[in-house]
Amino acid sequence: MKSPNPHSEAANAAEPFQGRRVVLCVTGGIAAYKAAYLTRGLVRAGAQVSVVMTEAAQRFVGPLTFETLSGNRVVTSTFERVYETGPVEHVDLAERTDLVVVAPATYNFLGKLCAGIADDAVTTFISAVVCPVLVAPAMNEHMWRNPINQRNVGALHALGYHFVDPERGGLACSWEGEGRMAEPETILAAARELLHPGPKTLPSPARSSLSGLTVLVTAAGTWEAIDPVRFVGNRSSGRMGYALAAAAARRGAQVLLVSGPSALEIPAGLLSSRRVESAAEMLQACRDWLPRADILLMAAAVADYRPRQVAENKIKRSRAAMQLDLEATPDVLAELRPLKESRLFVGFALETAADPGPAAQAKLRDKGLDLVVANRVGADTGPEQRTNQVWIWNAEGLVEATPVLDKQVVAEIVLDAVENAWAKRRTPAGA
Ligand code: CTP
Repeated sequence: MKSPNPHSEAANAAEPFQGRRVVLCVTGGIAAYKAAYLTRGLVRAGAQVSVVMTEAAQRFVGPLTFETLSGNRVVTSTFERVYETGPVEHVDLAERTDLVVVAPATYNFLGKLCAGIADDAVTTFISAVVCPVLVAPAMNEHMWRNPINQRNVGALHALGYHFVDPERGGLACSWEGEGRMAEPETILAAARELLHPGPKTLPSPARSSLSGLTVLVTAAGTWEAIDPVRFVGNRSSGRMGYALAAAAARRGAQVLLVSGPSALEIPAGLLSSRRVESAAEMLQACRDWLPRADILLMAAAVADYRPRQVAENKIKRSRAAMQLDLEATPDVLAELRPLKESRLFVGFALETAADPGPAAQAKLRDKGLDLVVANRVGADTGPEQRTNQVWIWNAEGLVEATPVLDKQVVAEIVLDAVENAWAKRRTPAGA
């Protein structure tokens, strides 16, 4: 949908917020206090910020806070102007806004937006804007996972709304889980990306060979908690999965990225991303998103074992030997297999054997994959490296073998194989 307002005076400034008009919409949740930090961040970055609040939002934080931080009067009613000097008509208002950020966005707000209801200051304002809208949901984990909410989020994605998904952590209801609004810096970074003048950090799609397809990519390793500070994990950096996600987006795919812990920045141009920690969380995220996907690229290095018990408090050091009682984590691919239907499943096989072929082919068969991408742990290949060497098999045999290459180049080669596999399975035999 929607691209930033090209008429804005400062559209080419180095700091994308400089002189841009950002409307921050605040709906009724405890995370409204974080919207105050966000306002300050936007103002400091040079944006002209106006705030629109629902009635419920005002119960959490008063308009005066936002008025003081933004330097602009806060809109709390459908019948007010957003800009002091501007006209009141929705169309004019829309033309004068470069970006709308909704933070926090409640379950109720998402439902109303999805249904096209405009019955308060925020939903009415948004109904008239033509610029990008970035939504940062915040709610209880069960509400976030509620199928109605997930359906709404999916539909809003499809309509072109941008999301900064909630994170895991302590929630206001004393519940630990997913649903906590992303931190203001994360929202700010996503907003900056949307406003970025000129070419995006990534080149625009070189080709649109994956357009119309939704690709779910998993990346990085998982961390399985031992206690509040320690975990069982592996050396995966996430580079391969992130390179695949970025390359698929450049080819026009709608990319959903589920990432374990990684120091890398989420690539630009994705439909949505979700950060998870454990294998169980990765499985849940994949279960949530697989119904929307045509292709699964399972590049994550999921930890195979997790402690049977997670200690509530930090385990004290002692001189005695210590035993960790481990149990198997869920095999994400195996769990997703019953939901495969006509989707293309691509797995990865990390091997240390000189010939990764037999083990990789066994994984192709056992996990019901269409393609398996094998890589060997070596001096310049493997989870921590910037380079990789892969062998790609389908049920008929080897389809591709590469020398050691940068992971970005490997990603392109893998996607070529994926495109071929996708084209073949959609072409009836003999056609
Ligand atoms: N995988 C998974 N869930 C797990 C472990 C692995 O979905 N708990 C997926 C990986 O994302 C990868 C494929 O299975 O796409 C193969 O992973 P790999 O680590 O190579 O093999 P494992 O199945 O873990 O078997 P092993 O460790 O014995 O080689």
